[in-house]
Amino acid sequence: MTKSTGIEKLIRSFLITLGGYSASTSPDTLEGKVEVPVESIIKLDANENPYGCSPRVSQALASYPYLNIYPDAGQAELRKLLAGYTGVGAEHIVASNGSDQLIDLILRLFVGPGDEVINCIPSFEMFRFGTELCDGSLIEVPRDENFAVNVKAVKAKISKKTKVIFLANPNNPTGTLMPQPDILDILDTGLPVVVDEAYYEFSGATVVPLISRYKNLMALRTFSKWAGLAGLRIGYGIFPPEITGYLLRIKPPYNVNAAAMVAVRESLKDVDYLMSRVKAIVAERERLFAELKKLKWLKPFPSQANFIFCSVLNGKASQLQQKLQKKGILVRYFDKPMLRDSIRISVGKPEHTDALIKALREIGG
Ligand SMILES: Cc1ncc(COP(=O)(O)O)c(C=O)c1O
Repeated sequence: MTKSTGIEKLIRSFLITLGGYSASTSPDTLEGKVEVPVESIIKLDANENPYGCSPRVSQALASYPYLNIYPDAGQAELRKLLAGYTGVGAEHIVASNGSDQLIDLILRLFVGPGDEVINCIPSFEMFRFGTELCDGSLIEVPRDENFAVNVKAVKAKISKKTKVIFLANPNNPTGTLMPQPDILDILDTGLPVVVDEAYYEFSGATVVPLISRYKNLMALRTFSKWAGLAGLRIGYGIFPPEITGYLLRIKPPYNVNAAAMVAVRESLKDVDYLMSRVKAIVAERERLFAELKKLKWLKPFPSQANFIFCSVLNGKASQLQQKLQKKGILVRYFDKPMLRDSIRISVGKPEHTDALIKALREIGG
């Protein structure tokens, strides 16, 4: 046991008991623990893009000459490029070190000790994590049995202390899409609403065209999923200009690095190629869903994202995850209230689906 140095007395007390964020497993850490070479591990646990990034990105990065220069803290070119991609003015855009960073910045902007944040559970864990880091109070509103948001219950939970309402659309980990009238209903409360569209390119559903109508709407996007850039950490948000101004002021100055900037520039020159990959993933998602449905001991839920959420009907999800990991296939498992014995499988290439289904048949049989 580590000897106490008394440092805890100086650490902010609410952080001492904070449960961290449980991130996905890095394949390098599994050397010797799986039956296959680490290079052959099939990674279906973090909703990454199995096709990688645009080849234009790798080419441009290989010869990028300015790594010794700080990137533009004001993100002028980046915001202009993202404005072009999203169809809004650059005054609405802030870019970030992954969209995770914007979740953190938004919470820092609005939430202090005791303020309330509404989260429609189960949902993306960073909403909880970021709220707890601000010493905010998490107000959890359970989704229904099909993981739809209970709008009436959300509205009933609003209090004088409510500062932010989070809606992941499609939702992670369930893949559920929220009907737009339900989002509008929540926006009409006038409270700050974050619509997290990390999987927008897979779902096609967005609130971004509404941004000039609602002074309380914030939409988050990322290059991690559709553009295959999770490793470079590049996300962005679309905000009313007033909120943009505050976020630009409180963000770390060089929060988007030069390599990520190059990657956005090149990706946006290659949208057709990247969207053809998105199309392939969406088609594969439907094949994976049909294959999973054939296994009577799993219950997959329809998804509008690049992953499929399944209830495990005949045992422990943690054991299933371990058995798959042993065979070199990584999936995410959950064991929380509302997510008892369930797994989330990212959609891979067709050969990944084949290997997964074969492994599931061996395990299940
Ligand atoms: C709903 C949701 N929001 C945000 C993120 C974070 O994405 P990024 O890699 O841009 O930080 C994820 C990643 O899994 C997600 O599922």
